[in-house]
Amino acid sequence: MFVTFRGLNGLEAFSVAEPVLKASGLSQPESRGTAPPRPQVIHLATGNAHKVAEFQRLADESGLPVKIVPAAHMPPVDEDTGTFAGNARKKALALKALLPWDTWVLADDSGVCVEALGGAPGVESAYYAGPQHDSAANLRKLTEVMREVPAGRRAAYFHCVLLLRGPDGQERVFEGRCEGVLAREPVGGQGFGYDPLFIPAGHERTYAQLSESEKNLISHRARAWAGLAAHLRSFP
Ligand code: IMP
Repeated sequence: MFVTFRGLNGLEAFSVAEPVLKASGLSQPESRGTAPPRPQVIHLATGNAHKVAEFQRLADESGLPVKIVPAAHMPPVDEDTGTFAGNARKKALALKALLPWDTWVLADDSGVCVEALGGAPGVESAYYAGPQHDSAANLRKLTEVMREVPAGRRAAYFHCVLLLRGPDGQERVFEGRCEGVLAREPVGGQGFGYDPLFIPAGHERTYAQLSESEKNLISHRARAWAGLAAHLRSFP
């Protein structure tokens, strides 16, 4: 039997075979038949301090009393599943395997998807210019690849998947998207990654020209977080 997880907007879904969940041993407390209490601490499956701070800010801004803690030792994970949700799940499982069964783990995966490139770089966003993970090189490559693409064909969106795995072995997946277009040249000094090239819909400035709080109102991560926050609020 398969358990299907679906994002709030139904855009992406994936299934996990129940025997796989059971075989992991992580589903053990499910048999107790009691829902776990609302998490007060969530372990983020990343060693990236910037991400931890960003999620903590999102939690604080949504009024949720939850502490986001970084993975003390995030094991290396090959992001090779071909989907945002699959990659997030791999990260969550890799960290969860190192922690006590009653911990909550959150993993994310995100990227920029360009219509004229058939959705690329997408799940490959972090490695677009090669496996060296150099975000300046990634930005340069996307700028060059898009150089001759006319104004009407520069649509792109950022996509974020958040996967929360609880003590009972249950997983919930939340998704967020921010639509926009790509600028011709990188502009702006804030943010990271592809921020200087991406102009969100309804704006004239790139992500990299917005303040952190302006970006947090519209970003793909903030939108995915909103779904997660609503889920956390629904706990008794
Ligand atoms: P990951 O989600 O940590 O695997 O990162 C995916 C890649 O997508 C990052 O290395 C960035 O290149 C890109 N990315 C994800 N979110 C953003 C963003 O908010 N701004 C700019 N680039 C981003």
